[in-house]
Amino acid sequence: MLKNLEELNGMREAGRLAAEVLEMISDHVRPGISTGELDKICHDYIIEEQKAIPANVGYRGFEKTLCTSINQVICHGIPDFNRILKSGDIMNIDVTVIKDGWHGDTSKMFLVGKTQSHNERLVKITQECLYKGIEAVRPGARLGDIGHAIQVHAEKNHYSVVEEYCGHGIGKIYHDEPQVLHYGMAGTGLEILEGMCFTIEPMINLGSKSTKLLADGWTVETQDGRNSAQWEHTIYVNKDGAEILTLRKEER
Ligand code: MF3
Ligand code: CO
Ligand code: CO
Repeated sequence: MLKNLEELNGMREAGRLAAEVLEMISDHVRPGISTGELDKICHDYIIEEQKAIPANVGYRGFEKTLCTSINQVICHGIPDFNRILKSGDIMNIDVTVIKDGWHGDTSKMFLVGKTQSHNERLVKITQECLYKGIEAVRPGARLGDIGHAIQVHAEKNHYSVVEEYCGHGIGKIYHDEPQVLHYGMAGTGLEILEGMCFTIEPMINLGSKSTKLLADGWTVETQDGRNSAQWEHTIYVNKDGAEILTLRKEER
C-alpha cells in the first residue's frame, strides 16, 4: 500500500512518537528496575502524554505495551515485575504506537550496567546490520537486496540471522504485506516502490540461528542459549532512498 503525502504525515507522527518512547525510557533503564515497571512507565506515557495507543496491548492476546527481550531472548519477551535488570544484561525494548490510526514500530538495544565486550560487539554489529539494510532501500531495488546486505554483514562477523521473524509492511495495519526478510539474495524478491512503508528489524545471534518458542506462547529464545540482539526502524521509501520515520535524536 503506497502512502500519499497526507498518509506519510500520519506515519511521520506515529513514528516520531514511537521513537520518543525509547528516548524517554532510556534514563530508567538501569540495574534494579523491573521490566514490568519499564512497561508501566511507557504505557502511561503513551496514553497520558502522547494521547496515543500502545499497539501491543491486546494484539493477538499480548497484554503489555513493550516487548522486553533480555540476553538469549530474541524477541517478544513479556515485561514482568519479577524480572529485575542486572548489570551485564543486554535488552531490546520494542514499542509500537498508534496515532490517528497510523502505526510507528521501533526497537533498540540497551546495555545494562557494565556489559561484556562480546555482547557490546553483538549489539553494535546488529545496529550496523539495520543501517546496512536501510541503505539498500531505494525505488527499483528489491527486498532481497535488504536481506542480503544484512546477512552479509552478520555472517562476516561470524553471527547468524534469525529466519523465522521478519520486518513487515506497516500503516493502518500493524503487520501488513510485504514480509521483509533479513537474509536473501541480491536482485531477488519484490521491487521496492516509492511510497512504501515497512519495518526492518534484524535479529542477530551470537551462535546458531535456531529459535525456540517458550511455553508462554510469546517469548522466543535462541536454541543454544547464547545471546541475541535486535534493532528496528519504520521507514518510508522516497525517491532517493529511505526516510527513517522512527529516528531518535541520538542517531542524527
Ligand atoms: N513490535 C513487534 C514487531 O516488530 C511485534 C510485537 S507483537 C507483540 O513486529 F504482541 F509481541 F507485542
Ligand atoms: Co515490527
Ligand atoms: Co517492533
